[in-house]
Amino acid sequence: MSSLTNKNVLLGVTGGIAAYKSAELIRRLSELGADVRVVMTRAAQEFITPLTMQALSGNPVHTDLLDVAAEAAMGHIQLARWADIIIIAPCTADFIAKLATGEGSDLLSTVCLAAKSDLAIAPAMNQAMWGHQATQANLAQLIDRGVKVWGPASGEQACGDVGLGRMLEPSEIASCAEACFDSGVLAGKKVVLTAGPTREAIDPVRYISNHSSGKMGYALARAAAEAGAQTILISGPTNLPPPADVEFIAVESAEQMNAAVMARIENAQVFIGAAAVADYRPVQCAAAKLKKTASETMSIELTKNPDIIAGVAETNQVACVIGFAAETDNLLEYARAKRVNKKLDMVIANDVSQPGIGFNSDNNNVTVIDANGETEIAGLSKYQLAKQLIQLIAQKI
Ligand code: CTP
Repeated sequence: MSSLTNKNVLLGVTGGIAAYKSAELIRRLSELGADVRVVMTRAAQEFITPLTMQALSGNPVHTDLLDVAAEAAMGHIQLARWADIIIIAPCTADFIAKLATGEGSDLLSTVCLAAKSDLAIAPAMNQAMWGHQATQANLAQLIDRGVKVWGPASGEQACGDVGLGRMLEPSEIASCAEACFDSGVLAGKKVVLTAGPTREAIDPVRYISNHSSGKMGYALARAAAEAGAQTILISGPTNLPPPADVEFIAVESAEQMNAAVMARIENAQVFIGAAAVADYRPVQCAAAKLKKTASETMSIELTKNPDIIAGVAETNQVACVIGFAAETDNLLEYARAKRVNKKLDMVIANDVSQPGIGFNSDNNNVTVIDANGETEIAGLSKYQLAKQLIQLIAQKI
């Protein structure tokens, strides 16, 4: 049963081209058992009709603050009290500004002012508008006040630009909404994760690293925190913001990552090694920048880094130790060997040679290998996959 069953979801729709996706979002939320009521701004009605939203939600659509008949049926205060959660999708830059200043100039902004429920927004706008200082300052205020910000995603936009600003897909927004009501399968548990690449210094300006984006590890940390776990994320350098409700420790090298993990692993029930840890580091990091020489070749002598996850498994203190095997060939064979050799409870194998999944992408297809066998999970975003993996891990412990 979904955690959205019998929940009252007030869906606010503001005026952006992504409003057409809100129709699909109503269907998703309804399929998950939510009772959906829609409030549309005037601009939203230029993009999609209230009739469509009414037909899909099975409830009258609310559009006016000062409509006597509508207020008599269910006014802004009743709507605010009715909602278990308010989701504004799409949420325009203009509406973000309205929320930030606390304006109550139309039905939706007034409902938001009157509501005590969770408020979530799924921003959608042109990438330049998203990046504008004013929008970012407004967002920072909203985040400060506890508003949940879901997305935006990056990609090609209706205006032809490419960048951040696309509304998340309806299925992703529905997953985020479900997570808000999850009862917390990991409540009372401590989860430590590593994510991202490590950087192994050659000299003060150069390093050896890899293409890991950190997306899978961050998605897992978010899902673990949403499942109620005390979550510690130890991350190499990435471009990602730390997820909410997660203790975040930034490191650079494998040795730093190892020290950070070992200092925090006590009393953890779960360790997830999602970092792409460099296996070797230069024997010496030159004190000054290395200069080019006359020679056509150069070699850097490397020495082995500690195997962090094997070290955690070795302590025998953590109930569930989960590793990743990112491979370009012989995927399952290598992954099975890693589970045995590093004494892991579970290995998540993913093929990083395929375009569209793995290292830098937003999606992932994986095979989960544990003592009970092997299960393939495909076609999910990294966050949806993370949520499934967290459920599996919760069952294990
Ligand atoms: N790992 C780790 N510390 C290391 C190397 C790897 O904790 N020094 C962890 C990774 O976080 C991952 C798992 O071990 O969970 C497998 O990592 P991978 O790089 O695929 O394995 P390696 O042991 O490095 O083997 P190889 O590079 O030969 O594939």
